[in-house]
Amino acid sequence: MPTTTLTKPEIRNRKMQFNFEDIKSTNYWAGNSIISSYFAAMSATFPPGEKEFIESVRLFKAHITDTELQKEIKAFIGQEGHHSFQHRQINKAFDEQGWDTAKIEEKLRNKIQWFNRHLSDESRLARTVCFEHITAIMSEFILSNQDILDDLPESLKSLFLWHTVEEIEHKSVAFDVHETLVGNRNQLRRHMALVTIDFTLSMLYYQIMAHIWARSLPNWSDVKGAWSFFFGKKGMISNMRKPYLSFFKTDFHPWNVDNSELISAWKASKYAEDEVSNTSTEKNVIKSSSNNDDLAAAS
Ligand SMILES: [Fe+2]
Ligand SMILES: [Fe+2]
Repeated sequence: MPTTTLTKPEIRNRKMQFNFEDIKSTNYWAGNSIISSYFAAMSATFPPGEKEFIESVRLFKAHITDTELQKEIKAFIGQEGHHSFQHRQINKAFDEQGWDTAKIEEKLRNKIQWFNRHLSDESRLARTVCFEHITAIMSEFILSNQDILDDLPESLKSLFLWHTVEEIEHKSVAFDVHETLVGNRNQLRRHMALVTIDFTLSMLYYQIMAHIWARSLPNWSDVKGAWSFFFGKKGMISNMRKPYLSFFKTDFHPWNVDNSELISAWKASKYAEDEVSNTSTEKNVIKSSSNNDDLAAAS
């Protein structure tokens, strides 16, 4: 049984539609090449990364007897599958602007294949739990500081808001599966330390390679802007430190922090209108997604 009785928001499978034609610049993020390469590289990691999140949770799905958690797993798989699909679309737009996300994707895919040959099922699930915590706290930061998205093309801003909202909705699923069937907190903490090092170094490597492939040399103003964006007083990484460390507490559960108001705020915003699940275009979007491995796997 899941260890929590906390109230959690519904995990909804939404089908979204974005038009990424408004991405018209390599340095789409406020003209800053370092922040732009960071999020292009991160977007490149989503299709292979989220595929692994899905697969690692699926390894345990059959052993879950709690019907509520079974429902959550199904919704989690649906959400991550559609995230991958949408990030594949935006990655094409990034590639057209000069970032080679396909190469980053391939590097990560190879790395995951290597990991999967050497790791136990429990370790794969533990890594997913750790990555889900990192994406959840990054999502919380973005949704609480939406002014950082002000200079972005609308399609990208909408994609970010939707993805971050759904990361919060499903933030406890992998954790609850782990807690139910593995329940080894020390193993989780060890993996978090390793995942943090892996994620930080990999992102740095992908970013450096992205700049080399794009023949883009950051200038001093890019460096200053990126430093303040990530490490300044209001910076993303500076502000993720405390929620990150909460993972190491003995009573940690993702819903100890109830940030469901961020989901409600998005639902009330114009960006929720990019959902097409309940409109006549739904069939078209689903049809156009039908060749996508992740989405097909998710359904
Ligand atoms: Fe996701
Ligand atoms: Fe996720």
